[in-house]
Amino acid sequence: MSQRIAAKITGVAGYLPPRVVTNADMEKIVDTSDEWIRTRTGIRERRFAEPGMAASHMGTEAAKKLLADRGVNPEEIGLIVVATVTPDMFFPATACLIQDRLGASNAWGFDLSGACSGFLYALTVAAQFVGAGTHKKALVVGSDVMTSILDFTDRATCVLFGDGAGAVLVEPATSDTEGIIDFVHDVDGSGGCNLYMPAGGSLHPASHETVEKRMHYVHQEGQQVFKYAVRRMSDLACEVLQRNGLSSRDLSLVVPHQANLRIIRAMQERLGMDDSKVIVNIDRYGNTTAATIPLGLKDAVEQGRLRKGDLVLLIAVGAGYTTGAILMRWAY
Ligand code: ACO
Repeated sequence: MSQRIAAKITGVAGYLPPRVVTNADMEKIVDTSDEWIRTRTGIRERRFAEPGMAASHMGTEAAKKLLADRGVNPEEIGLIVVATVTPDMFFPATACLIQDRLGASNAWGFDLSGACSGFLYALTVAAQFVGAGTHKKALVVGSDVMTSILDFTDRATCVLFGDGAGAVLVEPATSDTEGIIDFVHDVDGSGGCNLYMPAGGSLHPASHETVEKRMHYVHQEGQQVFKYAVRRMSDLACEVLQRNGLSSRDLSLVVPHQANLRIIRAMQERLGMDDSKVIVNIDRYGNTTAATIPLGLKDAVEQGRLRKGDLVLLIAVGAGYTTGAILMRWAY
């Protein structure tokens, strides 16, 4: 059964730190090669935030640009949901820091931890409040400073990620021909052990030992995550299309999470879609975790690849495991 939400995206913006780090630069940090990174992942370069730039700073920049582009006063925002696995601190929430910097004096908000599916979780949650009529304008932000939790002695993970932020504005849909048609989310906690940051939480609070054992960094069983992502991205896409009586031929654009170009191409092949209908920017940004999908939407808008009425699929799989697919008619 499909689950329509009477809410639509009415604006999108992104922020990328200026420092570009190429694969050649990564060769100077770990024992890797441009050829390995390009052929195994599709990544050519990524952005690194300078020290002192946190998730809230990047998220604020993206949100400020979004509000300026759309001519929206910060005081009109009722809700701010921030997806991140690299919050500035455990508390206060990154959403509070962004609310303050924006001057969004009428907003409440919170952070949401859904890793690479985080932005889609946040979008579904915010859209529910807008669809229910509780808020007229909600901000959804995905922001991650992945470099703050990368082990730069582990070549299998540090080459994969980059830093960035994206934000969308969510407003009520005024007809059935626009906005969110359906969404699917699920969690498979049995996969938690394949992608995680062991320390820093209540299980292993920071100590000399956790630092010495490099437990404050991303740990990943790459092949396990890869297999799960390939299978679930394709299954989810088919499921959400089928239950709405649609096929991949009806899609104008897919904006997938950017973890690995091979994962994206595998899903694309199963859907039988050509490259022109699938957003890929992993080559330039790497995996920015909660920011990949809003940055994908930003690129799609800038490249003129989204038009009012287009059927769009947003899709992600991430740590947890977490998954999400949101099907929508683009509204502007
Ligand atoms: N440079 C050179 N060689 C490397 C590197 C590197 N950066 N990293 C690993 N290798 C080597 C390995 O040591 C191994 O060598 P060996 O055969 O001598 O042992 C070889 O390359 C193959 O390693 P694999 O791990 O088998 O490589 P694979 O083809 O599986 O690619 C990768 C690894 C890119 C990590 C892939 O498994 C992947 O993309 N996994 C999924 C990532 C993902 O989707 N993450 C989820 C999102 S993140 C989130 O939610 C926070």
